[in-house]
Amino acid sequence: MDNKLRIAVLVSGGGTNLQAIIDKIADGTVTNTEIVGVISNNPGVYSLTRAANAGIPAYVISPKDYASREEFNVALKEKIDELRVDLVVLAGCLVKIPEILIDAYPNKIINIHPALIPSFCGLGYYGLKVHEAALERGVKLSGATVHFVNKDLDEGPIILQKAVAVEDGDTPKILQQRIMEQAEWKILPEAIDLIANDRIEVVEGKVRFKK
Ligand code: GRF
Repeated sequence: MDNKLRIAVLVSGGGTNLQAIIDKIADGTVTNTEIVGVISNNPGVYSLTRAANAGIPAYVISPKDYASREEFNVALKEKIDELRVDLVVLAGCLVKIPEILIDAYPNKIINIHPALIPSFCGLGYYGLKVHEAALERGVKLSGATVHFVNKDLDEGPIILQKAVAVEDGDTPKILQQRIMEQAEWKILPEAIDLIANDRIEVVEGKVRFKK
């Protein structure tokens, strides 16, 4: 009986986090998991090429293609329902996740944020802006966080974090790349593997490893 964790990966751009998941399923680092779909809110992004190269069904579901935000929200949820998804993975996804999806998938949506939450997160902190703020503040450590998604932006229960040193002379681009390489591409697949193998649970709003 194939009881693999069925994941849909939501993307908006280049898809390096998606690629890390694809590669770690292929090399056996991530077990018991199947990517049943990639959903992008943007057409023509390299994430879609990565999905095609891996033989994974890909869909473009963009707010621009719907008469209202509500219709987009419904279409996104319907696609995820249709794919019989167990876990929604936001990997470089910049679209606002609809409350109807969050309500339907409690603690079944995870996100990678390129900072150590609660630092440099929330409204306006995405992509390079996160790293600009970290460098502006002069932190010596930044990193990445994987967390469950709830209705409060970047506030859901934290699953994994990994710290990365900020080095003299770092630009936002250099810091972003180091955090992706040393943190994001490691902890997002690791979080998926933990969930796929039923290793964690959420108790009173906090993630803990099962005994
Ligand atoms: C990266 O800055 C990542 O930290 C954030 O989205 C951006 C693009 O990620 N989550 P990807 O290359 O599309 O996975």
